[in-house]
Amino acid sequence: PAHRPLFGKHIVVTAGPTREAIDPVRFLSNRSSGKQGFAIAAAAAAAGARVTLVAGPVSLPTPLGVDRIDVESAVEMKDSVKKALPADAAVMVAAVADWRAKTIHDSKIKKHSAAPPALILEENPDILAWLATSPDKPPLLVGFAAETDAVLDNAKAKRKRKGADWIVANDVSDAGGAMDGDDNAVTIVTSESVERLERMPKGAVGRELVARIAQALGVPAEI
Ligand code: C5P
Repeated sequence: PAHRPLFGKHIVVTAGPTREAIDPVRFLSNRSSGKQGFAIAAAAAAAGARVTLVAGPVSLPTPLGVDRIDVESAVEMKDSVKKALPADAAVMVAAVADWRAKTIHDSKIKKHSAAPPALILEENPDILAWLATSPDKPPLLVGFAAETDAVLDNAKAKRKRKGADWIVANDVSDAGGAMDGDDNAVTIVTSESVERLERMPKGAVGRELVARIAQALGVPAEI
C-alpha cells in the first residue's frame, strides 16, 4: 500500500559517532549527534520497513518501531552490522572514527610524568567499504559524505572508491550547519544522477531519502 511502501523490507542504518577508548575514562570521538541517522531510521520504520539501527553513543530516543543496537567502537559497529544482515538496503550515516588507540590501557593513564603520553593510533575498519565487497552486500548501499570543501567532487569520488550505490553529500562547514543542527542540505549522488535537495529539517531529509529508497527497491510510489 502507498502508505507503507517498505513493508517486508529490512533496512540497516548506522548512526552517531563511534567512541574509541584510550583508557577506562578517556576516549576519541567526534561531533556527530546521530540526528540524521535516527531520522532516516524513523522514516524507514514509518514507511513500514523492519529497521535495525546500529547506534554509537548518542542521547536520542529510539524512534517508534525501530530495533536499536547500541555500540561504542567502530569494531563493535561493524560486528553489529554484520549480524544484522541480510538487508534490502543499508544506509551508513554513522561518523565512524577513522582511528583508534593502538593499545587501550587497562587503568587510567597517570598525569605525573614529565612528558605527556604519546598516543599511537591505528586505522579502524571502513564499514561501508567492507559491506560493498561483502557477499551480503545489500541491493542498495547508501553512504554519507560529510565534507567541508569541494563537497560534490569529493562525494562523487567517494561513491566510486567505496563501492556505494549512492552517496548523500552534506556540507559540514559552519555555513552548512549539518553536524549538530536540526537542518540539513544534502545532495544525492547516484551512478546516474545528482540531485540537490534544499535545506530542510533532518526529519524531512529522512522522508525524502526513504521515498527514493522505496522507489529504488522497486516499490511503486502510488497504488
Ligand atoms: O570516508 P568517509 O569517512 O568520509 O566516508 C563516509 C561514509 O563512510 C559514511 O557513510 C560512513 O558511515 C562510512 N564509514 C564507515 N566506516 C568507516 C568510515 C566511514 O562505514 N570507518
